[in-house]
Amino acid sequence: MSVLITGIGELTTNAETTGDALIIDGDRIAWVGEASKAPAADSKTDVEGRAVLPGWVDSHTHLVFAGDRTAEFGARMAGKPYTAGGIAVTVNATRQASDAELSEIIRKHVAEALRQGTTFVETKTGYGLNVPDEVRSARIAAEHADEVTFLGAHLVPPGEDADTYVDLVRGEMLDAVAPLVRWADVFCEKGAFDYDQSKAVLVAAKEKGLGLRVHGNQLGEGPGVRLAVELGAASVDHCTYLSQQDIDALASSDTVATLLPACDLSTRQSLPPARALLDAGATVALASNCNPGSSYTSSMAFCVTTAVLQMRMSVEEAVWAATAGGAQALRRDDVGVIRPGARADLHVLDAPSITHLAYRPGVPLTHAVWQRGERVV
Ligand code: NIG
Repeated sequence: MSVLITGIGELTTNAETTGDALIIDGDRIAWVGEASKAPAADSKTDVEGRAVLPGWVDSHTHLVFAGDRTAEFGARMAGKPYTAGGIAVTVNATRQASDAELSEIIRKHVAEALRQGTTFVETKTGYGLNVPDEVRSARIAAEHADEVTFLGAHLVPPGEDADTYVDLVRGEMLDAVAPLVRWADVFCEKGAFDYDQSKAVLVAAKEKGLGLRVHGNQLGEGPGVRLAVELGAASVDHCTYLSQQDIDALASSDTVATLLPACDLSTRQSLPPARALLDAGATVALASNCNPGSSYTSSMAFCVTTAVLQMRMSVEEAVWAATAGGAQALRRDDVGVIRPGARADLHVLDAPSITHLAYRPGVPLTHAVWQRGERVV
């Protein structure tokens, strides 16, 4: 079944393709161009002058969790700093939850994101932190998300010895989880894992054939960016505190700087230096970092709005970063783009242009969503 979509007010493709119409055939984009030249299709939908863009690609979430950290958030708003230690609260709750409970929580959040235009989601393990709970987290994640990342190196479980835990993560835990995931990640930060510990986990994961990602430079300057670039990681996420050396290293590498502005706001950090990264030539992605501790939002539109209003990104740069940028951070060229052959993941705004995402902050602008060729919203 093919569908011709016409009446597009502003079409953002992130590709050479332009026009005011497109055709979806099955789960793929089949054609993009001027409506007057459109080939025949089985059915037709007119979006009446609305803007169409690729569905959001959320390349950083932590959705296999249980429990609630409202009290921690409240304490933060009263002035208490965010620390990695809060992760342990979610680990306890996650270990106690049944498979069905975890599955329902991630299902609900992926559905919530989809209603807001997110058609592609990466998610991580990292609230299990022992072999059986990391394995079941990866299995449940794979049932709901498009891409899964192993984050056994999220925190040293309280009471355990750090080096012994690192040996477990890069040994038995990695062996058990690797067949279920595409990526491995480490939280390389004070209070989590240092450079050597992080590197040991990433090197072992690379030997297993996994792609690499790093949580780095979230709470202060540190070695995360350097390590990510050195090991050729696809992405280093957070990048809130960067030295000029970090910016230069990112600019001359293939490692995407994935910025998580909702997290920085929710943890009362500075916002990341997006302008300096872009001006230096680095590739920037935006993601929600949806998790119950540091960033409890699934709203990619909020991230885009913040990037424009407070991080000096243009609307075009921010929308690219939240679509094609996320895809690049996941080394994908079939999502985050509207061109023949790409996945038919479309986001139709109830607005004539993407500028409205920043011009009308906080207003839910999602009018319709197609995911893999099916209209789902
Ligand atoms: O990306 N920084 C480490 N991990 C998550 C936070 C997880 C939590 O606080 O539960 C993050 O912000």
